[in-house]
Amino acid sequence: MMDKVNILLLGSGGREHAIARALRRDSVVNELFIAPGNPGMESLGTCVSLDITSGGDVASFAKEHDITLVIPGPEAPLVAGVADAVREVGIAVFGPGKEAARLEGSKAFAKEVMNLADVPTAQAYVCESEDEVKKAFADFGAPYVVKDDGLAAGKGVVVTSEEEEALAHARACLAKENGRVVIEEYLDGPELSLFCICDGVNVVPLEPAQDFKRAYDDDKGLNTGGMGAYSPLPWIPEGLVEEVVETVARPVVDEMARRGAPFIGLLYCGLALTSRGVRVIEFNVRFGDPETQSVLARLKTPLASLLYSAATGALSPQKLEWDNNAAVTVVLASEGYPVSSRSGDEITGITEAEEVLDAHVIQAGTTTKDGVLVSSGGRVLATVGLGHSVAAARSTAYEALSKIHLEGSHYRSDIAKNI
Ligand code: AMP
Ligand code: GLY
Repeated sequence: MMDKVNILLLGSGGREHAIARALRRDSVVNELFIAPGNPGMESLGTCVSLDITSGGDVASFAKEHDITLVIPGPEAPLVAGVADAVREVGIAVFGPGKEAARLEGSKAFAKEVMNLADVPTAQAYVCESEDEVKKAFADFGAPYVVKDDGLAAGKGVVVTSEEEEALAHARACLAKENGRVVIEEYLDGPELSLFCICDGVNVVPLEPAQDFKRAYDDDKGLNTGGMGAYSPLPWIPEGLVEEVVETVARPVVDEMARRGAPFIGLLYCGLALTSRGVRVIEFNVRFGDPETQSVLARLKTPLASLLYSAATGALSPQKLEWDNNAAVTVVLASEGYPVSSRSGDEITGITEAEEVLDAHVIQAGTTTKDGVLVSSGGRVLATVGLGHSVAAARSTAYEALSKIHLEGSHYRSDIAKNI
């Protein structure tokens, strides 16, 4: 282990704010640069302006500033090959190269890897024409699951029992350049997210979380990036995490190594606990947002050292240390989200929210205008509450949220309810 690490964290959302907070708790961290960051992160590191999807720019910045570890937060830099460019100049990166990032960048590629690695997932057809789509619908029946093959910021998936609506989404996906659409078997049962830290060979799981994807209470409305999350999950069967590591994460990591595209970074396993057993819904190649806000709030193992060991191929098999408290995250979204998002409105009450015992505020779509904190995106901020039970953590998160005001904003009132 090294004496001190200088870190460059890429991104500006709630996930990156949560990562930055956790990194700051690790005494091995010397300098922390965040590109571009947000106003909530200014007290945690130095926010800098940088084109984070340009491998050349990120690699040059990292060299000039004596960075020992780069942590890309979102998928865009990874899919663009930023990790490869940084590794080429000899700097460690916690994130997969372009080829391995296809696990998230292409749903069809993820299916191919899962089939080869014998990973349990929904049956699927990759379709390139409307006729193929119709045949797939007839085969699986309703509800229909229609996924854009490419990246769509969590909004490329439509699950519906209305064939017309399903077909309309499939047509829209096919109409894109090189458009392909994946039609899947519907998976019943609760969903969970399991984040696995990987060094290309070894896999260390974090504690699972559950995310609330739909915009409104009772899972109504459109899919969003995520409106809230909690961790741990008191309801999961014993041994589930180990089962997922053995039947999902490790086989995928092995298959990627076999292909010469080792998976280094965070393998996000989006899972459904169906009546027939656990199935993969999707992979992402980065921390989930907002699950990370709940998961990292509880992690006691020093994060920078852990990610550095993974980035340098030295991740040792270990049990991570966790706070006994549960954590609940509730997202505050701007008016119109997820269809549109209103911006430029003043946000007040953050200090009061932070004063609530065992609560903190994570910023995402915020900026400062004339010295005033204003909204600048769809998911504006989140409150995180800790408590001895999910219910206690939940009431802390909502109490903190009640202190915050943003004109026109909305949030779900049923995050982690009745758990
Ligand atoms: P994805 O982008 O693949 O994670 O899909 C977004 C959301 O759509 C998931 O979190 C699920 O709620 C839902 N979904 C995706 N695939 C399926 C499936 N095969 N069966 C049921 N729901 C699904
Ligand atoms: N919360 C879902 C995601 O990060 O993709």
